[in-house]
Amino acid sequence: MTASRIIPRPLESVPLASDFTLTPATPILLSRADPGLKQAGEYLASLIKKGTGYALAIESRTEDPRQDRAILLTLADTDPELGPEGYRLRVDSTGIRMSAAQPAGLFYAIQTLRQLFPPEFESSGPIRYSAWTLPGIRVTDKPRYAWRGFMLDVSRHFHPKEFIYKVLNYMAFHKLNTFHWHLCDDQGWRIEIRKYPGLTEKAAWRVDREHLHWNARPAQKPGEQATYGGFYTREEIRDIVRYAGERFITIVPEIEMPAHTTALLAAYPQFSCTGGPFTVPPGGVWPITDIFCAGNDSTFLFLQDILTEVMELFPGTFIHIGGDEANKAEWKRCSKCQARIRAEGLQGEDELQSYFIKRIERFINARGRRLIGWDEILEGGLAPNATVMSWRGVRGGIEAARSGHDVVMSPTSHCYFDYYQGDPQYEPLAIGGHIPLEKVYAFEPTPDTLTLAQAAHVLGAQANLWGEYVPGPDHAEYMMFPRLTALSEVVWTAKDRKDWNDFSNRLWVFLKRLDRMGVNYARSALRPETDVKADITNRRISIVLSSALPDMKIRYTLDGSEPRPGSPLYENPVELENSAVLKAAGFREGTRISGVISESLKLHKAAGKKVSLKNPPSSRYTGGGGRGLVNILRGTVNHRDGHWLGFEGDDLDALIDLGEVTTVRRIAAGFLHSMGSWIFLPVSVEYEVSLDGENFRTVAVLEPDLDPKHSESVVQEIPAGLEEPVEVRYIRVRARNRKTCPDWHRGAGGNAWLFADEIVVE
Ligand code: ACM
Ligand code: ZN
Repeated sequence: MTASRIIPRPLESVPLASDFTLTPATPILLSRADPGLKQAGEYLASLIKKGTGYALAIESRTEDPRQDRAILLTLADTDPELGPEGYRLRVDSTGIRMSAAQPAGLFYAIQTLRQLFPPEFESSGPIRYSAWTLPGIRVTDKPRYAWRGFMLDVSRHFHPKEFIYKVLNYMAFHKLNTFHWHLCDDQGWRIEIRKYPGLTEKAAWRVDREHLHWNARPAQKPGEQATYGGFYTREEIRDIVRYAGERFITIVPEIEMPAHTTALLAAYPQFSCTGGPFTVPPGGVWPITDIFCAGNDSTFLFLQDILTEVMELFPGTFIHIGGDEANKAEWKRCSKCQARIRAEGLQGEDELQSYFIKRIERFINARGRRLIGWDEILEGGLAPNATVMSWRGVRGGIEAARSGHDVVMSPTSHCYFDYYQGDPQYEPLAIGGHIPLEKVYAFEPTPDTLTLAQAAHVLGAQANLWGEYVPGPDHAEYMMFPRLTALSEVVWTAKDRKDWNDFSNRLWVFLKRLDRMGVNYARSALRPETDVKADITNRRISIVLSSALPDMKIRYTLDGSEPRPGSPLYENPVELENSAVLKAAGFREGTRISGVISESLKLHKAAGKKVSLKNPPSSRYTGGGGRGLVNILRGTVNHRDGHWLGFEGDDLDALIDLGEVTTVRRIAAGFLHSMGSWIFLPVSVEYEVSLDGENFRTVAVLEPDLDPKHSESVVQEIPAGLEEPVEVRYIRVRARNRKTCPDWHRGAGGNAWLFADEIVVE
């Protein structure tokens, strides 16, 4: 039972009959005098000291390794098949034994041992506990992949170094070993480079527009102070690299080129094609055309200087050079870049990018390091030794593996932790997308289309936390956990040992450990989901409640009250014959463990009636067409929820036939504002009514007054409040699209979207 608690799930674990109780007198014995062993012993002692308050003695016993009732750590190359990170662990009444070929293996054995203690062991200070008893167990374990990664973007929002230390500890607890540090981007440069002080004096700082939506932040004005940002000093980076090394985590620094580099160019505009000037953008800009000039040799010398200092600070094999999303408009216009294309006999700008990356790769390889870049580095031809990080799906990774290159999988489909992890109406603002916990868990990094030899090029996978919508550490933790917990099993656990039901069962105890560590993890996965089916013709509503977690109970109410432990337990679809408000939440062991979800269902007079549309909605957002406007299911703040009719640049013009003359007291249409997704409320909504379908009378013309800059997504119902009831058969609703995005918007001048759902007639 207890054996099954460990995350990531070990290769093999067998419960044993007898257990072991730790006491202050339990010694930590090292099998020989060895610095790696000593470090493992001291690390274990420090964890035990923190968790239990016991100060255990550490002894090397080369002569008489008497191990009775001790914790014995052994380094021995007895299990070559367990590899450099594998280990064995045995706990029974005679003691605790851990062995591995390398110190990394012992480190992971210790991470597993932590999970044999009760969750209280992870408290920040020692607590009194009756007896620290560990269940008997035998574990044989090793990771599936060598690259078990997490990427943190510290450019879009700077995170203090204290948080980086926390991240490294959380990663270690999850047996992750690669920290990809996204140290620079358009919105800020974060690493001290001795030779170029402008990078930390200027490129690390921007004007503070944090109160505005990311995509509605005006550029720095002349005379304005750049006060928001920060950077890590060389000293701080050295300390962090050492700390990571002690946790067997390699840091992969990323220096973006040839694009995503506006912040740098604000300090050193001479390395751009245009010469600038540039300011550090305080938010989103799209498209970003700022780019290093590939025709200028001094650009390469400058980047080589930076990379030289980066390689001094980061001893790991891989140097990440970005390479993603380079808009090549300036290269097309730049005479130096065009001269380079001619001189090198290149076929256009894609090959110029390839030239750029190959030139940088030669520099990096000559210093004994390896280059890794986002999958765009495939375009125009891959540098000979490059490793590809596949983010636009796994296609780039497959292509690279087939041509004999190493790859790391990090597709937007499963690994983008800046995406929503639950229904956006209950989540803090995120960039978009939908990657719930079970989706992360289901990720398979090695595509089955690869041959065995090609599959060997898949080094592993990683999660990426981009920072546009992640203003601080608490929010970062919310986006990371427990999705990183699921990812740890994707990259560590053998494929045939992965099992969602088993994982979700182990997750409950694991979450208690995260609680003790003070991790601000999301409870999104604990929230039930609803699926409402409305049979309008028979005026019946059926609500299916579900949870991805099989061990969770769902309780609900229909009277608007909050679900409590005594509320009805959900077992079968809830059938309604009337309008209702349903509220539901997740429960475990008699306690509510999730937020409350709410569905408001109204069988109104237009429900199921005939609707004709003058303009069809976009094929991307049909929302069920005209029928979808009167199916009683309401669109949420998630514009992709399937309920919305989306009109790109077009108006909504809907005609409802109620089928017979009907008394109407209220008409209201719902609209979405989601500025970051280019969706705005209509500039006006006009309601008309008619008895015969020919002669219409205008009953209301309304202009929504929501500020188009409003950051949060909101659903707004715009009601035509009628002075007195009207007798009508036909209702026409016309909502005018604002046509283009406002000029302060990053999509300025592009088509604006109008999203409509549910015309409620009462
Ligand atoms: C990326 O998400 N632009 C790599
Ligand atoms: Zn140029």
